[in-house]
Amino acid sequence: MEPVGELSFAPVIPSLRLDVFRGDEWITAFANDVNYGLGSEPRELPPKYFYDARGSRLFDRITELPEYYPTRTERAILERCAGQIVGIAGAETLVELGSGSSHKTELLLEPLIERAANPLYVPIDFSESAVREASVRLIEKYTGLRVHGVIGDFEKHLGGLPPAPARLFAFLGGTIGNMKSDHMAFFLKRLGRLLGPADSLLVGVDLVKESGELEAAYNDAQGVTAEFNKNVLATINDNLSGDFDLDGFDHIAFFDPENSWIEMRLRANAAQSVRIGALDMRLEFEAGDEIRTEISRKFSREEIERELRIAGLEPYGWYTDEDSRFALTLAAPAAGQIALS
Ligand code: AVJ
Repeated sequence: MEPVGELSFAPVIPSLRLDVFRGDEWITAFANDVNYGLGSEPRELPPKYFYDARGSRLFDRITELPEYYPTRTERAILERCAGQIVGIAGAETLVELGSGSSHKTELLLEPLIERAANPLYVPIDFSESAVREASVRLIEKYTGLRVHGVIGDFEKHLGGLPPAPARLFAFLGGTIGNMKSDHMAFFLKRLGRLLGPADSLLVGVDLVKESGELEAAYNDAQGVTAEFNKNVLATINDNLSGDFDLDGFDHIAFFDPENSWIEMRLRANAAQSVRIGALDMRLEFEAGDEIRTEISRKFSREEIERELRIAGLEPYGWYTDEDSRFALTLAAPAAGQIALS
């Protein structure tokens, strides 16, 4: 056998397994996405690249802002309904797409650990540090829990999931709102095909509401969302030898009622020329030129349920707060669907 050389592995903990799909090739995907997005008209960057270590910390701060209601509202719904959700889904395994710091996860894990003979948690996230830290924290906190973490892109690496009984796939926080309609339909259809007859999907969605409240959530008084938005330029500088001046761009966030989404942009506040070394790309900005950095869709119950049905998933649970700010929808493969796949 060849010596493993440069590779180093963390010590084995029996109840923990981590699969790392995100190797150096993510840099190629990032370079492609930046090249394509900034080369298009209008200029656009995919929101998944917000979440480097600094961006993840900024997002965690966003979730605690007074104006940013989605996280605390979803947590309150889970505090009230997680036991019921896990029970009605009959879940013994929790698979979480985009698990981040896994803080809300504990609310689902606790009833799951209580009912499952051999409970398993499968967090999937792009951020290696987030999956590692959450996995270690959770196995230390819950004896009997096994964790099989997947470090990768939940749009690409769901194929290699461990087989497990009665899985509840959780896609929380409203992240599904980052996808435009055709992208979401494709994603849900693929996800739907992964689900067996004993599996369910729990999706968190932010709901349509008065635009003032929506816009405040993305224009916080402390400017944390602005910093988060601009950080995507820093990730380009750091990873692709860019020279974006973060102060040369202003944070913009507004509700577009036609598309029912919040749109975030970065707007050049002066003419400037930017070079991205790794792409051999030069970009010219006039004052006022913009880059779209995120869309965040706001749903009605009818819309999300329709999208689920199109993907062959039948909604069978709806959990919301008393002001209908946010909702969790629970769905399972429609009966005909399972027979077909
Ligand atoms: C993590 C995608 C749900 O759209 O509200 C927060 C990200 N962007 N503030 C959202 C975000 C600006 C967030 N999601």
